[in-house]
Order: sequence, then structure tokens, then C-alpha cells
Amino acid sequence: MQGDTLNLTVRPLSSALGAEIAGVDLSQPLSDATFKAIHDVWLKHQVILFRGQSLSEDQQIAFARRFGDLQPVRTTPGLYKNPYVLMVTNVVIDGQKGALPDGEMQFHSDQCYYENPAMATMLFGIEVPPSGGDTLFSSATAVYDSLPTATQKRLEGLQALNVYDYGNASTIKSDKIDENAPKFVHPVVRTHPETGRKGVYVNRLMTNHIIGLDRTESDALLEELFLQIEKPEFIYGHKWRVGDLVMWDNRCALHARTDFDPGTRRMMRRVTVKGDRPY
Ligand code: SIN
Repeated sequence: MQGDTLNLTVRPLSSALGAEIAGVDLSQPLSDATFKAIHDVWLKHQVILFRGQSLSEDQQIAFARRFGDLQPVRTTPGLYKNPYVLMVTNVVIDGQKGALPDGEMQFHSDQCYYENPAMATMLFGIEVPPSGGDTLFSSATAVYDSLPTATQKRLEGLQALNVYDYGNASTIKSDKIDENAPKFVHPVVRTHPETGRKGVYVNRLMTNHIIGLDRTESDALLEELFLQIEKPEFIYGHKWRVGDLVMWDNRCALHARTDFDPGTRRMMRRVTVKGDRPY
């Protein structure tokens, strides 16, 4: 397989979002034309998948850099030699435990608890459990489009607090917020800076409350949005194979993870690309 052919084929992965791109070897340098074709597919489908890749850390980083400046790891800086790499794994590597090792994760958008969340996240599948540990994606723009006009109007101008504190219960929202936890207020609906599309920008894992509403009203409105995000019609569920490279756009796609047997090994190499402040 040539790295740079323009013989890309694109296969949608679900009706809502996701596309598999075949015919490209990401370990090779890509021409501007090939990169543009990939970028266009990514903007349109929000999540892209490349199967059967064999990528070193440097090769994965080189591909990620084509999308923009890389985001150094912020929550656990210094965990790995390379400041841009986070191993999402339950495998101990060189005596070092991985990040987000196992268990189910509710829908979220990466780094929404910072002023400038990551624009894109890329996971490369190195070890995959025999079952479970799927990554689910939900299209925030399709969810927004599906809302009744009255709800869309109600969301206009609302902002919500997002907190990185999901070691605790993520389904029961609490007024007790760890004062040291990274947190940031962002719009409930954000506009994608490249496509102009609006998408919901709250999530079950990290959004604590909507600013200015009382707890009951905030919880009810958030629950309505979370249930919409979790509807199968907006979701693509990715079953991992070794050699899969999956990249998603955090500006318009939310993601979650299904549970898996913690006695089985799962190892993903994660690289993120810097983003702007949501508006
Ligand atoms: C993440 O939320 O970044 C991890 C997703 C996964 O492990 O599938």
C-alpha cells in the first residue's frame, strides 16, 4: 500500500457519523492533496477510521501534526517520555500505570473542563480485549438538529460548568465540586468554527450544571439532552481491532466507552490536537 495515492475509498460507518477511509498508509508522509481529502472526510463525518495501520509513536505524531499543533498532556503531565502521548491502557508499561485504564465511561468531550479543549483526539489500537471496550461516538450536531425548535431556542445563550472529577459518581450531579479539579464554563451549544454547524456541548460525564438555573431545572434539562445524545440513531459504536487508527472531532462529536473484563488487556496510544475556545 502506498502512503500517498489519492486512491482513497470512503465508507460511512453509520447514518449519523463516522467513515472508514481505506487505501492509505499513515506511516508514510502524505501529500497535501491526500491530507486535504482526509481532512474533508473528517469534517464531514466527524470520526474517521483507518484499519490495518502499523504506526510507531513518531509516525502517529507526524500524522496528528498535519491537523494542527499538538496538545501536550495536561491532566497527568510527565507520565510518559513524550509529552504529547497518553497511553489509555490497563497494562503497566515500564512500571507506569496507564490513564483511563478500564471500566465504562459515559459520553463526554475531551478536555471540555479547560478553556481551550482539544480539537481532535486520535487513538491507535495496540492491544484490544476480546469483547467490550468499544468506543461509542454520538454526533452532537445531529443531536442538536433533532431538538424541537423550542428547546433549541431555550438553549440559546446558556452556559454550563464542566468539571474533571469523574472519579466520583457521574450520573448523580452534586454541588460538592472538588476545588482543585480543572473546570471551565462553556456554551451549552457550540458552533463548529469550520463547518458553522451547531452542536450540543454538554455531557453526562463532565457537565455539572447549567449556570443560572436551579439544580432541579438544570438536572432536568441536562438529562433531556443526555438521553438524546444516547439515542442509538445518533451513535456509531466502534469495535476495535489491532491496527485501527480512529480520530474524532471534539467540536462536534461526543464519545463514551463500554465496559470490558479488566482481566483482559487493552492498550491505546492517544494523541490530541490543540483547539480553540468554544463559542
Ligand atoms: C477516552 O475517553 O479518551 C478514552 C476512550 C476509550 O478508551 O475508548
